[in-house]
Amino acid sequence: MDLDLDQDWLRGVRAALVGWYDESARALPWRRDRDPYRVLVSETMLVQTTVKAVVPYFERFVTRFPDFATLAAADLDEVVRAWEGLGYYRRARQLHAAAVRVVSEFGGRMPDDPTAIQALPGVGRYMAGAILSFAFDRAQPIVEANSERVLARLLAVRGDTRSGPIRERLWLAAERLVPQQEPGRFNQALIELGALVCAPRRPACLVCPLASLCQARRQGLEEAIPEARPRPAPLAVVEECAIVTQGSLVLVVQRGAGGLWERFWEFPTIHVEGADPGGRALGPDVDLARGVQLLTGVQARIGAPVKSIRYSVTKHRVALTARRGVAVSGALEPGPGLIDARWVEPRSLADLTMSSAGRRLAASCEWLE
Ligand code: ADE
Repeated sequence: MDLDLDQDWLRGVRAALVGWYDESARALPWRRDRDPYRVLVSETMLVQTTVKAVVPYFERFVTRFPDFATLAAADLDEVVRAWEGLGYYRRARQLHAAAVRVVSEFGGRMPDDPTAIQALPGVGRYMAGAILSFAFDRAQPIVEANSERVLARLLAVRGDTRSGPIRERLWLAAERLVPQQEPGRFNQALIELGALVCAPRRPACLVCPLASLCQARRQGLEEAIPEARPRPAPLAVVEECAIVTQGSLVLVVQRGAGGLWERFWEFPTIHVEGADPGGRALGPDVDLARGVQLLTGVQARIGAPVKSIRYSVTKHRVALTARRGVAVSGALEPGPGLIDARWVEPRSLADLTMSSAGRRLAASCEWLE
C-alpha cells in the first residue's frame, strides 16, 4: 500500500500543526515532562476516557505511585482502589503488571526498544508509539481516537475506520507525517487538534490551521468523514442486591478473578433479567434471600426495596434494586464467583474498592452510617 503524499504538503501540515500547538495546546499534567512512567500511566488512563476525567486521577496516582518501582511494589488492590471510578479496571491491573515487568526485567527503567515495549502487558501499537515518541522522541506514528479523525479528514479517507485496510492506511499516513525532529510534540499536536478543533461533529474548520491542506474540507466532506458508526441499542439488564445488616455491621462480598469487576467489593447481588454483563454466578432461578445465602452463607430476612439505581456498563444498561436485609443466622462462606465475604463497619466501606454503582448505593443508605 502506498499513499503518494506530496513532500510540500507533508512539510506544510507539520509546520502548521506544530505552530498551532505551541500557541493553543492545553497545559496538561502529563505534558510537563517526558518521563516514560508518566507517559504510560497517562496514556493508559486516557484510553476510552476523557481528559477532564483523567486529570485528577492522574495527579493522585503519580503522587501516590511516583515511579515503576513504587507501583510494582504496591498491592494490586490498592492500585485498583486508586483507579476506582475511572472504569475499565483491566487497565489498572495491566499497568501494575507492566510495572512489575519493567522492574524485574529492565531494572525499573522503561526500555526504549519497540519490541520490548510492545511486549509489556496492556501495551499495543498506539501505546508503544506514544511512549517512543513522547518519552524518547523517536519518530514513531500514533493513531488513537483523536488523531484518527484528523488523519481521515486530512486525506479524505472514506469508509469505516475500524476496518483493517482503512486502519492500515491511517497508520501509514501517521508514519509518513511524523517528523524526525520533535516527533513527540508533533504527535501530541495531532491529538490536540482532534480534541480541540477537528471535533467529531461540526469541526471548527474556520480556525483550523490545516484547513487549506485538508482534502475532506476541499471536497466538502468534513462532516461525512469519518463515517458515523451505527450504535447498537443498549441491552437492558435487571439486578437485585441485598444490603444485609447484623447489628451495626453490613455484609459485603469480594468478587473473584475474571469479569469486569475482578477483586471489587459489593453487596451480594443476583442477576434477574437480560444479558448478564458482570458474569454473575446466580441468575433468575433464585430469589434474593436464597441468593444471599448461596453467596455468603448468611440467612437473611429480605425486606422492602430501599433504593433503585441505573448504571451503564459496556453495552448494557442496568436497573439495580437494593433491598434491605437483616441477618438471621449462618456462618460466612464466600459462594460461587467470590473470594471473600465479610461483615464490615459501614464507614470502612470507604477503604474497599467498589464499583460506582455499589458506591452510590452505600452513599444513599444514610441508615448505614
Ligand atoms: N488522548 C490520548 N492521549 C492523549 C494525550 N497525550 N493528551 C490528550 N489527550 C489524549
